[in-house]
Amino acid sequence: MKTILLNPGPVTLSAGVRAALTGPDLCHREAEFVALQDNLRRKLLAVYDLPAAEWGAVLLTGSGTAAVEAMLVSLVPREGRVLIAENGVYGERMQRIAETYGIATTRVTAPWGASLDLAALDAALASTPHTHLAVVHHETTTGRLNALAAVGALCARHGVRMLLDGVSSFGAEDIAFGTLPIAACAATANKCLHGVPGTAFVVVNRAALAAAGGVTRSVYLDLKDYLARQDGHGTPFTQSVQTFYALDAALDEFFAAGGQAARGDLFRARMATVRATLLELGVRPLLAPEETSCVLHGFELPEGRSYAELHDALKARGFIIYAGQGALSERVFRVSAMGDISADDLARLCRALREILG
Ligand SMILES: Cc1ncc(COP(=O)(O)O)c(C=O)c1O
Repeated sequence: MKTILLNPGPVTLSAGVRAALTGPDLCHREAEFVALQDNLRRKLLAVYDLPAAEWGAVLLTGSGTAAVEAMLVSLVPREGRVLIAENGVYGERMQRIAETYGIATTRVTAPWGASLDLAALDAALASTPHTHLAVVHHETTTGRLNALAAVGALCARHGVRMLLDGVSSFGAEDIAFGTLPIAACAATANKCLHGVPGTAFVVVNRAALAAAGGVTRSVYLDLKDYLARQDGHGTPFTQSVQTFYALDAALDEFFAAGGQAARGDLFRARMATVRATLLELGVRPLLAPEETSCVLHGFELPEGRSYAELHDALKARGFIIYAGQGALSERVFRVSAMGDISADDLARLCRALREILG
C-alpha cells in the first residue's frame, strides 16, 4: 500500500522527482554541476518572478533550519538588533538561533495560535532602534498565516528590514517581495516545492546582504560567501547533488502545473475537502479559514480520542498525519496538503476519516 504523507514535509514524491534522484554521478566541481546549480538558482527566483540583479537564490545543503540560521547570522550586522515576532515553535527557534550567536534581540510573543501582537511590535520598534524584524510567514505549529502585509507596513514605517522564515510557505503562498521591505526569505526544497529533504535555500536581497557589512558568524552558513561563490558558478562546499536533481525535477513540475498561484489553489482545494469532511464529523478546526495557510490546518482532537489512536488508525489505511507540538500535543492534530496526492488519494482519506471518526 502506498503511504501518503500529510505531515508538513517531507512530502509524498511524484514519480518524476523520485526518478530524478537516480541521475548520473556528478562531481560538484564539474561543468554539469554548475549548469544544474545555475538553473536551480534561476528557477527559484522565477517562483516569485524576482530580478537576478536585485535578488540572489543561495542554495545550501541542509534542512530548513539551516536556511533560517544562515539568514539570521548573515544579514544582521555586528551592531544590529532583531525584533523577533513569535507565535509558535518556529518563531521561538529564530530567537534561540539569534541568542546562540550572540545577536541582540527583542522578543514580542503572542500565544500559539493567536495573531501577532502588532501594537506590541510597533511599540518595540518605536522605543528601541532595530535593524531587522524576523517573522515566520506560515507558523506551522498551528497553521496560522501571519499577516505579512501589516508587519511589512510597520517595518517600512520604522525603516527596518524583514527576515522571513518562508520554510512552509515559499512556493504556495503569496509573498510580496516587490513591495515589502524583505531582506531575505529562508525556505526549503521539501515542502511546497515538492522536492526532497537535503536542499534548503535563502532568497536574499543583494543590497540588504551587502548592508550587513563584513559580518561573519559562521563558516558553513555564511550567505555572503555562498552568494559570491554561486554567482561565480562554484560552491564553497560539497552540495547534495542528488537532492539538487530532485529539486530541479520538482521545479519543472511546479512550473508546468502553473507555478505559485496554482500550487496555492491546489493546496486550498485539498484543505477545503479535508476540512469539510472533518467538520461534518464534528471535528473543530483550530483557526478560521481566512487565518490559516493553504498548506496545513490544525484540528482539535475529538473528545475521548487520543492522537496515537487517530494516527495509528490512519497509518493502517496508508495516511500519515502530524501531532500537535508542545502543549498542543494532547489536543491537536495537523493535516497538510503538500505533495503528490491524487483525487483518488484524497477521496480515500475522506473515507478513512469517516470510518475512524464517524
Ligand atoms: C515555518 C518553519 N520553519 C522552520 C522549519 C524547520 O525546518 P527543518 O525541519 O527542515 O529544519 C519548519 C519545519 O517544519 C517550519 O515549518
